[in-house]
Amino acid sequence: MSSIIERHPDHFHLKAGGASYILHVVNGKYLAHAHWGAPLLTWQGANAPRFVDRSFSANPAGSTDRTFSLDALRQEYPGYGRTDFRSPAFEVQLADGSTAVDLHFVSATVVSGKPVLEGLPATYVRDPAEAQTLQIVLSDPLSALTATLTYTAFQNYPVVTRSVRFTNAGRQSLTLRRVLSFSLDLEGEGYRWLQLSGAHVRERQVVERPLTAGTVSVESRRGASSHQQNPFVALLSGRADEDAGEVFGFNLAYSGNFLAQAEVDQFGITRIQAGINPFDFAWKLEPGQSFQTPEAILAYSGNGLGELSRTFHRFYQNQLCRGPQVFQERPILINNWEATYFQFDQKKLEAIVEKAQPLGIELFVLDDGWFGHRDNDKTSLGDWTVDTKKLPAGLEALADTVHAKGMKFGLWFEPEMVSADSDLYRAHPDWCLHVEGRDRSESRNQLVLDLSRPEVCRSIIDSVTKILDGGKIDYVKWDMNRHLTEVGSAGRGADRQRETAHRHILGLYEILEVITTRYPQILFESCSGGGGRFDPGMLYYMPQVWTSDNTDAICRLEIQWGTSLAYPPVTMGAHVSAVPNHQVHRITPLKTRADVALVGTFGYELDPLSFSEAEAREVSQINAWYKAHRAVLQFGDFYRLKSPFEGKGNTAWMTISRDKTRAVLFYYQILAQPNAGQVVLRAKGLDPGRTYRVEGDGVTGSWSGAELMGVGLRLPDLRGDFQSLRLSLYS
Ligand code: DGJ
Repeated sequence: MSSIIERHPDHFHLKAGGASYILHVVNGKYLAHAHWGAPLLTWQGANAPRFVDRSFSANPAGSTDRTFSLDALRQEYPGYGRTDFRSPAFEVQLADGSTAVDLHFVSATVVSGKPVLEGLPATYVRDPAEAQTLQIVLSDPLSALTATLTYTAFQNYPVVTRSVRFTNAGRQSLTLRRVLSFSLDLEGEGYRWLQLSGAHVRERQVVERPLTAGTVSVESRRGASSHQQNPFVALLSGRADEDAGEVFGFNLAYSGNFLAQAEVDQFGITRIQAGINPFDFAWKLEPGQSFQTPEAILAYSGNGLGELSRTFHRFYQNQLCRGPQVFQERPILINNWEATYFQFDQKKLEAIVEKAQPLGIELFVLDDGWFGHRDNDKTSLGDWTVDTKKLPAGLEALADTVHAKGMKFGLWFEPEMVSADSDLYRAHPDWCLHVEGRDRSESRNQLVLDLSRPEVCRSIIDSVTKILDGGKIDYVKWDMNRHLTEVGSAGRGADRQRETAHRHILGLYEILEVITTRYPQILFESCSGGGGRFDPGMLYYMPQVWTSDNTDAICRLEIQWGTSLAYPPVTMGAHVSAVPNHQVHRITPLKTRADVALVGTFGYELDPLSFSEAEAREVSQINAWYKAHRAVLQFGDFYRLKSPFEGKGNTAWMTISRDKTRAVLFYYQILAQPNAGQVVLRAKGLDPGRTYRVEGDGVTGSWSGAELMGVGLRLPDLRGDFQSLRLSLYS
């Protein structure tokens, strides 16, 4: 095997499947960036930037060379106060209060494979031959603070992952105030910045803007990665679009407060960075102690956003998501939330199961309301014992009934939270995040358990384990329904209170590690009021996520499109719900609702007892179609054809099996237009030399892949608003 990371006398060349990342040491001290993007065979440095006298950019101490300033150098992990005035990657306060710190190159090693990031979610290799890792040690000569920069380059993906470990090798304590996971100085002008922003029930809308001088950022201060901003951003070079041009994607494997930003400096260099949000963060390092940042994932595409997304999709399926469920076909589920909310009893649930099973539904999920005396959202979080008023025979009996039908049984939890009205809170009022002497803000009538405390984590593990040890649960929906306020922890010293938000996330990860590895047979789906924690951190533990509490098919087009920029469709929970839709009150046809949900991990979120005979027949057919196509849908390559964010919002996408012998294509019409032109839709990703038989919704015929991609498919006219087409392609 040729090496993935080449160590040359004057530079390091990371050859990550179809992309090159090159860094070098300047003046024997400074770790500088040379190139990220197009694959190179060699780098001669012929194009290295010229040093020129830059007024108002100081030359670093010890040098009288007026042409050299860190302010004009493309750096790999810049500090502050030593001649670079741009946004630093880290900030540290030393024992004397000073913050001017320099990290100089000390050493570099290359190892095969990828070391584990202790206590944090991260991408991984199954075989050390899949990747190589470069570890570069930098150190501040004065304080002896060291930073080990870790770069892993993957053999089969144009992906480099980065993280940093700080160690206080000095004799005095110091405080880390900013510890971003990476910093990258890109040359080239005219980048566009793309972010995924939104709100609860409106997650991950695509927002794009040109970068000009100054700083653009997205961040979360909510204690969760959030519905509002996602820790994925991309830079599109000048003319790049879905299918062409250079695109750089950045994602952070972290589920808490984050910052992602781009600063265009005075010389047109774009510095892009991401990591734990420095806002309200500080971390004390005693001599000998270390701090590990989360991992950032950097991906490159020379062929537009579509290819970037497919890289992320494959990479996350193969190198991030874990457990035996990842490559198993996901079952069709029915969840009782929108069917009953809190008002159900055993009889009602059994009736749902009874009705669902013959329709081909494979998994019944009991949502919120089964424990304590939770008849509404004001009570009982923390008391994870079954409510025998609703389920007199207990959970296990219900699970047995479901299993007897040949279906699987799933259960909802929200273990990170506590209601003031709960035995847990009455016993441990100091177990929630709070600030001594200050009253506690509630959200959805609940408080957040303080996961920065090990005893709280242990208690959560115990209470969830008690239920899961019954052995009757095949699926868990792990929910989290509020953001963090009064982020303080009882008993923690004043000098460490600002560590709480990150310690809380570390506690969460520890809980998830224990639970998900203890029950590998359980399929876990994470949720935070829908898609409030759709990030690589959560995907490491749970291979699917409830994409949004918004189940309206039309809103879902935008939400799922935006989500697909970074995350594979198989990770997106997508359900058919009743009409009028509970979130936006829109009425859409059952077929359209199904055609949107079929693209994710498919299911229902409604009362099947309300189906007419015709609807029940249609649902059976949809389920049979899904079972025949789900291997392609869940594990194929996803191509976006027509964006809901453009024109009149009509949308199209398709999925193709890896061997290109099968595909499914969906088209959605939002509003019918009078006397409109015909729609000719060009496919993507097919094998041009193959002939494909196209079937479904009024289309039958055979065409070559070349014709379907180069000329396109003339779609039948759709009558009415909110209509859809579902086509199968076979070769
Ligand atoms: C928020 C989730 O996103 C919903 O699907 C549902 O599980 C509710 N919580 C239950 O409280």
